[in-house]
Amino acid sequence: MASSTQTPVQSPPEGGETRRDFLHIATAATAAVGAGAVVWPLVNQMNPSADVLALASIDLDLGGIEEGMAIKTMWRGKPVFARHLTADEIAKANAVDISGLRDPQTLADRTKPGNEQWLITLAVCTHLGCVPLGAAQGESRGDFGGYFCPCHGSHYDTAGRARKGPAPLNLEVPPYVFTTPTSVTIG
Ligand code: FES
Repeated sequence: MASSTQTPVQSPPEGGETRRDFLHIATAATAAVGAGAVVWPLVNQMNPSADVLALASIDLDLGGIEEGMAIKTMWRGKPVFARHLTADEIAKANAVDISGLRDPQTLADRTKPGNEQWLITLAVCTHLGCVPLGAAQGESRGDFGGYFCPCHGSHYDTAGRARKGPAPLNLEVPPYVFTTPTSVTIG
């Protein structure tokens, strides 16, 4: 009678875990550590750097902007208009019946109390984001004496409100505070 050779079968250790299970667990643990090591630099990279934080707010001296003139500056990568309205431009803005506006706001809503002559807005057309004309001398200020966006013909009035053309909203007023009678901090 031929004897058969049998390979001993190793029974799994108590608890049912085999060497293969152990390898799976070890690999998963390594992957978790690896993922943690990758995530940290990414999260750290997303924190604003010192130079970005410095640009989070800007100080703007309005002292040199004469009545009727405007300047363009940059804040958080966006252009900003600061405009010194004349008495006539203020009167025109206040004469408008805002119930007929697509984005009803008074000039007082868009300026600081006692400083209605200073109109500070983003220089970003609310249609598709072009930079409107009207800050530099000689540029078109549109049909309402404020700003004109040449991209698709939006007209803004002397309070920076959308009056004609496709712009759906007024030019956005950024957050700012007066720090002296002629200087502001934007942001
Ligand atoms: Fe200004 Fe279209 S982007 S009118």
